Amino acid sequence: MKHKRRWGAWLIGAYGAVSTTAILGKLAIEKRLVSPLGMITYLPFMKKISLPPLSEILIGGTDIRSHSVEKTAWEIWEKDRLFSPTLLEELSPYLKEEVETCIVPGVSTEEDPSLSNQEALDRIEKDILSFQKKNALDFVVVVNLASTTSPAPYLENFQEPEDLEKALQSGPSLPSSILYAFAALKNKMGYINFTPSPGTEIPSLSKLALANKVPHMGKDGKTGETLLKTVLAPLFASRNLEVLSWVGYNILGNMDGKALNEPDRKASKIQTKGASLAKLLPHQKPFHKVGIDYVPSLGDWKTAWDFIHFQGFLQTKMSLQFVWQGSDSMLAAPLVLDLIRLVCFSWQKGEFGPLVHLASFFKNPLSFEDHHFYHQYSLLEEYVARHSSSNSPPTSTASQK
Ligand SMILES: NC(=O)c1ccc[n+]([C@@H]2O[C@H](COP(=O)([O-])OP(=O)(O)OC[C@H]3O[C@@H](n4cnc5c(N)ncnc54)[C@H](O)[C@@H]3O)[C@@H](O)[C@H]2O)c1
Repeated sequence: MKHKRRWGAWLIGAYGAVSTTAILGKLAIEKRLVSPLGMITYLPFMKKISLPPLSEILIGGTDIRSHSVEKTAWEIWEKDRLFSPTLLEELSPYLKEEVETCIVPGVSTEEDPSLSNQEALDRIEKDILSFQKKNALDFVVVVNLASTTSPAPYLENFQEPEDLEKALQSGPSLPSSILYAFAALKNKMGYINFTPSPGTEIPSLSKLALANKVPHMGKDGKTGETLLKTVLAPLFASRNLEVLSWVGYNILGNMDGKALNEPDRKASKIQTKGASLAKLLPHQKPFHKVGIDYVPSLGDWKTAWDFIHFQGFLQTKMSLQFVWQGSDSMLAAPLVLDLIRLVCFSWQKGEFGPLVHLASFFKNPLSFEDHHFYHQYSLLEEYVARHSSSNSPPTSTASQK
């Protein structure tokens, strides 16, 4: 029997590694083929609120490559041995019947410079609205999981939604990530920016989200080295240890790594990765450097090596080193599913604007300056406590409709 789907998640970059892993994971969990290990929304404290079950969320999306989710999944298995072939075979009919039919060709102003801003926006709007209408979905969350694009500081000048409207007609080619975000907010769909690309942090879009009462959050999922940084840096501060240098070097071999090998795109990632330390150690001025290199043979297995040089009592110098070896997609995908459920829940509660209780999910959380992981995480715990059925009516960290 088919489940009733009230909710939709529209993945930009649907044939990418993170999207594919999220789609397979969602199907495998909802069909009880695997446990939801790695997902925060299945932790015991989360049971206090009724989040939409994965089975009620329909996944659709878009990609600029002509590919398929199943093809990406087999490629990941062949290269990185990440999914079991039995699981892939078992899920294959669902992928064909339920997922591939909801994925349409993507739009990219970066890859197709002949495409005008307005043409690109019109196509995106047509696709997301038809996904919502055809499947009779009450609410859709658009999730940016596409390849990272270059920083675009000029977007800060777009203060009002009208500035963006004007740029559509006469301005320079806008980044695709901005056009997707604009289309989502304009049509009252939630928006999550899991990438370092420009998104709803720009003033014109954050104001549009408030005007249209849309929940959104970003940016750049916090899954590995930065996660550890935001856990470890407060430890040095609270023991009155002075961090002299923090140097991190990341190597990865997946398509994301290849994209980040381009200097402009790498700049976006280094910007989001570098932001936390200065905020976490405001009274210290450590030498700080982040490097990223593409090493094809590593595939999805990302390695981060960090060297932390610090001094303590009587100026004695000491050091800490860590090596983090994680599967990039397996760390990111469960968070994507958590975020979709939590944004749908917020919409149901009438919350809109930046969802600051989701700060712990991101390297550069919107509207929340504190990078301390456990401070961020406690916002989520407090949010859940406030919304638990036994408590008084909700007053969220986000705005209310
Ligand atoms: N894996 C992690 O731990 C992690 C953490 C934080 C952020 N991210 C970000 O998530 C994003 C996805 O990562 P990934 O490993 O899946 O990358 P990927 O390269 O495997 O997938 C990206 C997909 O986006 C598609 N795409 C590019 N431009 C598009 C457009 N304009 N419209 C539609 N589709 C488009 C590509 O064809 C590709 O299939 C990246 O930006 C990455 O930096 C990943």
